[in-house]
Amino acid sequence: MHQTLLIAQLSDPHIGTGPAFLGGRMDTEHALRQAVAHVAAMDPQPDLVLLTGDLTERGSAAEYAVVAGALAPLAMPVYAVPGNHDDPKVARSALPRCMPTAPDAPDGVCCYRLRHGGLHLIALDTVVPRQSHGALGPAQLAWLARQLGQCRDEPVLLFMHHPPLPTGIEAMDACSLLEGGDELAALVRAHGAVQGILCGHLHRPVQMQFGGAPLHVAPSVAHQIALDLRPGAALHAQLEPPKISLHRWSPVHGLCTHLSYVQAFGPALPL
Ligand SMILES: [Fe+2]
Repeated sequence: MHQTLLIAQLSDPHIGTGPAFLGGRMDTEHALRQAVAHVAAMDPQPDLVLLTGDLTERGSAAEYAVVAGALAPLAMPVYAVPGNHDDPKVARSALPRCMPTAPDAPDGVCCYRLRHGGLHLIALDTVVPRQSHGALGPAQLAWLARQLGQCRDEPVLLFMHHPPLPTGIEAMDACSLLEGGDELAALVRAHGAVQGILCGHLHRPVQMQFGGAPLHVAPSVAHQIALDLRPGAALHAQLEPPKISLHRWSPVHGLCTHLSYVQAFGPALPL
């Protein structure tokens, strides 16, 4: 019996234990704790939480300890993929339940598949060590092809850090998924039952189509990247009302994505 699933997506918290972030104007630990409290108070409760990368700023064990503490109030399962600011090995040893090990995944790569309700969830590790852009190499693509083959005709949700398509924010497009995107799109299209691809990295909410499936980029729970589509525009961060993505998946109607503001802007107004 298939059921509707509610999935909260939190992205890019950038927990840092080093120098103050953005000139001390952004407390990323506070931002993550606020987002977690927001999810913990939701009614109905999400069935699971997905973290789409850049859990930390520098990938240190001390930073992952802060992440683990901030996530502690969440009663539902939490799963994560690493981003370019993470160290996948350190992250996995600090958060083993959030990043399960798949025995058949390529060595040292944080890819895994799990099943929740009627949905297969496939985590893809797009990190290129010491680079800000992402890639899916032949070994990961071959692993993904095997996973998709094992759930043929069944609904699948992919999640990964780097978006595989340009958005017009040139400086971010230059560090998106720069290798393996065409092959990934072909795999998604050939499977035919991919319900969505969830990404992070951009620090902005963006909706696209990829391989015939909806692709959603979640905002950061902390700072955002300015929406500047001018050619050659310099990259800059800005503070906006923090929000998370909330996906409602139904086997009949597919993926419906909401944005949920972490803070209310006034009382509820009865209609
Ligand atoms: Fe980020």
